[in-house]
Parts: sequence; structure tokens; C-alpha cells
Amino acid sequence: MHPIVTRAQRAFESVFEGQADVLVQAPGRVNLIGEHTDYNEGFVFPAAIDRYVVVAARSRTDHRVRIYSAMYDEMAEFQVDNISEAQGNWADYPKGVVREFYQLGHRLCGLDAAMVGNVPICAGLGSSAAVEMAMGAAVASLNNIAICKPDLALLGQRAENRYVGVNCGIMDQFVSANARAGHALFLDCRDLSFELVPLFDDSIRIAICNSGVTRGLTDSAYNDRRAACETGVSHLARAMGTKIGALRDVSLAMLNTYRGALSETVLKRCRHVIAENDRTQRAVALLKAGDLSGFGQLMVASHESLRDDYEVSGEELDLLVEIALRVPGVFGARITGAGFGGCTVNLVKRDAVATLTDAINATYPQKTGLTPGIYVCSAVNGAAQVA
Ligand code: GLA
Repeated sequence: MHPIVTRAQRAFESVFEGQADVLVQAPGRVNLIGEHTDYNEGFVFPAAIDRYVVVAARSRTDHRVRIYSAMYDEMAEFQVDNISEAQGNWADYPKGVVREFYQLGHRLCGLDAAMVGNVPICAGLGSSAAVEMAMGAAVASLNNIAICKPDLALLGQRAENRYVGVNCGIMDQFVSANARAGHALFLDCRDLSFELVPLFDDSIRIAICNSGVTRGLTDSAYNDRRAACETGVSHLARAMGTKIGALRDVSLAMLNTYRGALSETVLKRCRHVIAENDRTQRAVALLKAGDLSGFGQLMVASHESLRDDYEVSGEELDLLVEIALRVPGVFGARITGAGFGGCTVNLVKRDAVATLTDAINATYPQKTGLTPGIYVCSAVNGAAQVA
């Protein structure tokens, strides 16, 4: 059994006494390319990583829910049938999930749960989605609810959109639920069709560099970006006199022709999304063809677009990318996840990982006063009940 699963079991036993009935693990994720495209019905290409949230849970005969978070060393308590407003803390995520099941009409039992995790929090590695998927699978199992993984992902997203208050897309929940070891998941966020694409051979690594800058998605900046995309879509639909469902339906040529009175800011946001969709599709084709240099170049173009047009980077993330790109054996580097702090993802030759680590440790702390975290990750399976 994975050590973190054992930790969840132990945490449960010491907080609630007795044994848990179910143990579920759900991974965080790294996105290789396709950023801020999911809520524009576009394409994303993430993989699940070997960092998990594990929930150990047992049903109760009443309607009470007690959730202990080992990450925060705190307990949250509520009733399944009477969930108050979100409080703006960690407990909103599991609460939002329980609430969604309840709103689907399920007569839920109460439960006791211990939650343990090693996905860095507020680092852009999908820790919220991992909590939602682990909690969701545990609730489903305890209540004998049959729910397929894509529906579990959608339930997690609704919890975040409707309860937590973040208008996130579907990428994080979907990959945390549906990923396969050794593969990245090429997802069409319009119809949720997906393809599992085998990753590279053993000579290549995915290295994640954590800037140490944290910023929660509940900050308005993420929702602002989404709102700008929606403004762009309604303007373009009016200008073109046709029905456009999302930026997915728009090309750069169309954007330039029909931009009209769009503000410079909205124009830039739309330009990023449209170009990123195109890059993502091309990047998947390049990976399948074994062209890692080409893939890496698109990662760099993605970073530049996130920096200049979507404006979700920052000095620290730019510096991490800059340092990485000077290291021989690094194919590409970019922001992963929403940005506003968090991590970069680097595609790197196995033999160059040590040089990359040294280069970052030599420059980054001194220039920023922050301690970077460097994780070499492997692509793992999605959420699963482990006991
Ligand atoms: C966060 C959201 C995702 C996605 C990314 C940006 O991780 O949860 O839905 O929008 O940001 O690509």
C-alpha cells in the first residue's frame, strides 16, 4: 500500500477510532499544454501526477458529516441535508461535493472522513480537483451510488462553480478521474471525448518547478479572465451575425476581421485562447510523431502567450522558464495551471534534470528570496478506490 494511503488510514483511526470502510485516492495533475482553453470549449493535454489526496471514510447512521483534514489539522462538521454558505476555506470543497450529490436527489448517509494529501496546495497542480474526486468517489461508494468517471468530474466542477465560487473549467477534475499511467489525456472540452496518448520513453522526464508564489483561484483574476472570454464571444457573435458557441469556434482571422470595438484587453485574451487551442492540437500531433523539440517550442510559445496576452504569469514564473530554457536538454518550459503564481512544467532529458535543478537553485532563491520546489513526476492512473 502506498505510504500516503497508510497515513490516511492511521489519521482516520486516531481521529475517529475504528476502521474506515473505504479508502480512495485521487491524483493532482500537470498540464503539458492547453491553458485557459477548457472553459472556452477547447482542447487541453494534462497528465495525472504521482501526488495524491486520499480520503478514508466510514458511513454513519445519522446525517452528520465530520471531515478531518490532515493538511490543515482541522475538523469540519455539517449535516448532509443542511449545508450553509461557503466559508472560504478548505472545507468548502468536500462540502460542495456532498451538496451536489444531495442535490441530485440522493438520500445520503452521514459520514466520518479523514483526508490526507501531498499535492502542493495553491500551486496550480489541481489539489482542489483531487479533493473533489477523492471525496466524490468516497461518497459514491459509501452510498452505493453508481456514477461514471466523466460524471464524477462534472459533479466536482459544479461543486466548485456553484458552491466554492470559482468558475473553473473541467480539465482538472476530468484528468484526476480518468487519467492512465504513462499517458497524457487529450481532452476535447466541448463534448468530453478524449484520447490517452502514450508519453515518452524513459530518457525523458516531466519536471515541475514550484515558484513558491501561492494564490488561490478564488481570487477574482481567474473569473475575470473567463468573463473577458465571454465578452469576446458575445461581441463576435453579434459582429458576425452568426451563432458562436465559444472561442473554440473562432479563428485568428475571424477575430481580426470582426474585432470592431473590442477592447485591447479582451482582444488579447481571445487571441491567447484561439492560438492556444491551435497549439494544443499541433503539440499532440508532434508528440505522437516523437518530435519533442517541436513540442517544446509550442510549450514556450504557450508560455509567452500566457505572459503577454493572457497576463497570468509573473516575474517568478518567467524567471523559472528563462533559467530552464538556458539548460541544454530542456525541450520546453511553461506555466502549468491557471498561473498567478504556482508552477512551471518542463520537458527535459533525464540526464539534464540535475543540471536544471542546480541552475534553478543557483539563481532563483537569490533573485526572488523564495525557495523553489522541484518535483520530477510520473504520469499515473486516475482516481481509484484502494480498499
Ligand atoms: C485551473 C482550472 C482549470 C483550467 C486551468 C487553466 O486549473 O481549474 O479548469 O481553467 O486553471 O488552464
